[in-house]
Amino acid sequence: MIIAVDGPAASGKGTVAKALARHYNLPHLDTGLLYRAVAATVRRLELDPSKEADAVAACDFDELTLADPVLRSDEVGQLASLVSAHPLVRAALLARQKRFAHQPGGAVLDGRDIGTVIAPDADAKLFVKATPQIRAKRRHAELQSHGSTVSFDRVLADIRARDQRDASRSTAPLAMADDAALLDTSFLSIEASVERAIQLVEGQR
Ligand code: C5P
Repeated sequence: MIIAVDGPAASGKGTVAKALARHYNLPHLDTGLLYRAVAATVRRLELDPSKEADAVAACDFDELTLADPVLRSDEVGQLASLVSAHPLVRAALLARQKRFAHQPGGAVLDGRDIGTVIAPDADAKLFVKATPQIRAKRRHAELQSHGSTVSFDRVLADIRARDQRDASRSTAPLAMADDAALLDTSFLSIEASVERAIQLVEGQR
């Protein structure tokens, strides 16, 4: 069974995808990490993220890069959203994601284009969303718990900027697949979101 989970930053898609993987005993790939690894490599090699050729050169990161906690920072997230808009970067990461999705036994993948590009044939597709204010509140609380002093307004502005960039790019923009089920986590706890996600998957498979 292939489960595709898409949605914007801090919507809860990662948490939902991880819980579904555990529930169905399937391997899980957070595809945002791949774009974040490209972004971190661009930064480390002092390349220009706005140049497609530079960003493509950074797609050749090694496996160890994926385990780096620095990938989770908001700064790398913003940079990831820049490099991910280059069609050749998306093309460079495509085969790896498709292979993961189509491994024997199935998989859970979360990202922006899983249900539309990576696995349009997925057995279940969820599109996870929440209002920008609520996503910013969650992200802000998470950053504060790690000692960050960044303001709520700054986090909200970053979320809006990333939404705008991810939804407006020409290649594989963030979009809900026609056959995806919508999961709005705005007013749901993590437990309730996961429970609802399982119900939606059961309804589709
Ligand atoms: O999901 P996450 O916030 O880790 O993703 C970081 C960035 O990577 C996103 O803002 C988006 O631009 C990009 N991304 C993408 N396609 C995916 C996953 C992530 O373009 N499948």
